[in-house]
Amino acid sequence: MPIKFHEQTKTFHICNKYLSYIICVMENGQMENLYYGKAICDKEDFSYLHEEVMRSLMSVCVPEPGILSMQYTKQEYPVYGTGDFRSPAMTVRQENGSEIVDFKYVSHETYDGKKKLKGLPATYTENESEAQSLDILLHDSVMDTDLILTYTIYEEYPVITRSVRILQKGDQKIRLENMMSASVEFPDMDFEMLQLSGAWSRERYVKTRKLEMGIQAIQSLSGTASSAEQNPFIALKRPHTTEDMGEVYGFSFVYSSNFLAQVEVTPYEMTRVMMGINPQGFSWELKKGEEFQTPEVVMVYSDQGLNGMSQVYHRLYRNHLMRGKWKNRVRPILLNNWEATYFNFTEEKILDIAKKAKEVGVELFVLDDGWFGTRNDDYQGLGDWFVNKNKLPDGISGLSRKIEAMGLKFGLWVELEMVNKDSDCYRAHPDWLIGAPGRFESHSRHQHVLDFSKPEVVDYIYDSISKILDESAISYIKWDMNRYMSEPFSQGMPAAEQGKTMHKYILGVYDLYTRLTEKYPDILFESCSSGGARFDPGMLYFAPQTWTSDDTDAAEREKIQYGTSFVYPIVSMGSHISAVPNHQMHRYTPLATRANVAYFGTFGYELDLNLLSEEELKEVREQVAFMKKYRELIQIEGDFYRILSPFEGNETAWMVVSRDKKHAVAGYYERLNKVNAAWMRLRFKGLDEKQLYTVKWEENSIKAHGNELMYAGIPIDRDYCNKTNGDFYSILYTIEAE
Ligand code: GLA
Repeated sequence: MPIKFHEQTKTFHICNKYLSYIICVMENGQMENLYYGKAICDKEDFSYLHEEVMRSLMSVCVPEPGILSMQYTKQEYPVYGTGDFRSPAMTVRQENGSEIVDFKYVSHETYDGKKKLKGLPATYTENESEAQSLDILLHDSVMDTDLILTYTIYEEYPVITRSVRILQKGDQKIRLENMMSASVEFPDMDFEMLQLSGAWSRERYVKTRKLEMGIQAIQSLSGTASSAEQNPFIALKRPHTTEDMGEVYGFSFVYSSNFLAQVEVTPYEMTRVMMGINPQGFSWELKKGEEFQTPEVVMVYSDQGLNGMSQVYHRLYRNHLMRGKWKNRVRPILLNNWEATYFNFTEEKILDIAKKAKEVGVELFVLDDGWFGTRNDDYQGLGDWFVNKNKLPDGISGLSRKIEAMGLKFGLWVELEMVNKDSDCYRAHPDWLIGAPGRFESHSRHQHVLDFSKPEVVDYIYDSISKILDESAISYIKWDMNRYMSEPFSQGMPAAEQGKTMHKYILGVYDLYTRLTEKYPDILFESCSSGGARFDPGMLYFAPQTWTSDDTDAAEREKIQYGTSFVYPIVSMGSHISAVPNHQMHRYTPLATRANVAYFGTFGYELDLNLLSEEELKEVREQVAFMKKYRELIQIEGDFYRILSPFEGNETAWMVVSRDKKHAVAGYYERLNKVNAAWMRLRFKGLDEKQLYTVKWEENSIKAHGNELMYAGIPIDRDYCNKTNGDFYSILYTIEAE
């Protein structure tokens, strides 16, 4: 049993072959965190890990002569009001104004498998033997409130998931002002915090900082999204931890709206990590009999460096987060018309682009923005989900069938959560807009947020989009969302309910996703938010791929995809080849390099192939053929290894190796060319030491053992680089066991 309970010492040991997580009930009934890290042997008593000493200014929370103090104890779910002066995991305001709470252990239950979280995306088990779960019931007797801390440990992964549920049994109304999903404490501060930060077109850049005493945090207050600015993920790594060795603790939040990931270090060098819904803008009243469920935090422990941590997230999210028909399936090679036409297209033009796509071997044609209402630019039409017959006289239904007749699948762009004021939808329902009475309503890309916290709004959108899906032959949906929530207020909701707006909004989005994915199980959904502002596990639960960024420049994509790979599987990263000069960077990169980057993702095109030369089209045909041959390895079978970081130098390298170590594909990329450059060797990773491989690149080929390739490496052919492309040169290697 991976979850053990030692009755005498009231100690829980949650463990598998990789990790141990040890918590116990303290003298005052609250829960203490004794250890989290590499697996250690089980025993009855770990009480020596509880450290206690009398200190000045210390608040003691047990009768004398006891000296237990919450101030210096590593707690499991810390609260304010029993002598701890750090940030609490929860804040509950009671009718008398008090925020003092005291949740004491009552009982616990262990069970095989994992329960669903009501209304929320979360990791899951396919059969109960894959994981074991623990619910610890705590109770506050003054409020008569239950608090349930839930843990799941997966047998084959160094993973623990956490969430919390609170149930008000007492007569008084209580108000949750803060309710974190998990809190973890470490006895030291010898860590660096790693985060994925950015902005539109430069999402998920890797940033690290040494922990210091005090609070360091990242957050989203964007309302509609986990955000482009901060991804809902942090890792604590030891200073010496590299990509390939050393300890790292990952924390990933399965949620797509406001979050807080906070690390607090005390002057006693203890570190507290908390993750949950951002308390700012959140307030949730509970009446007798009502409960609140937090989203889930997925904690990964790795002693195999950052690559080790990422590979665990990739496998877990591919096998236990993504669902449905597209789970573990290679993705169709698509062509999207956005950068080819923007809003300016006719049916004839679309069919022309699709025809060329079919000729080169593309499998899916995606019609992006501009097909509905009066949507001829981004000032109008959002909310009116009926086809623009001026552009598409036979409707989506006619177009989709014409595309299918060519032998392509058809996909469609939608932005269901938004409305332009210049739309029939807004004119009929002005009160469906998120916005505060008497206040200026900020606009963003000329659009406004529909109030998805209201079930009738979600119903309306569900009906409008179902009609189109029912009438047409649609295999793929790109679900976009292009603005944050600036004045979070739900019109017509009572004052006491306003603090629920942003969480209820995202629950409304999840509800619509649930209904659409259940009704149309064959459709492949790709989520998108002005590029990659909603690249989070919450979305991956519904949509198994995400548009990684609006920036399609190959050299920029190296950084974005490299950062994204810290948590998210290669198969989830939407990656397309676009035209040069690139529309975001205005930069020229070789067609080969654009492909060599896009292969490490879902792969597709975002340009009008009719504008390419015959020579380029030949190259495109070869790219499509290459991806068809290797996508099973890259997207499904392989483990991804980061080799050289674009954040540290001029070169980027990464590779994918099959689980049996017989096949691999590696990409090497240079930004600016160097004159009279130093020698450079690329060392591969993850291969079988003794295995003889054939490595091929360009017109070259060598035979070498795994240990040669990993430790001696292979020299980069600089001469070739100079002769070919100069800047933004890249090499793609295939590595096959003999
Ligand atoms: C967003 C998306 C793009 C494209 C446009 C359409 O910016 O990220 O890929 O779909 O919207 O308006």
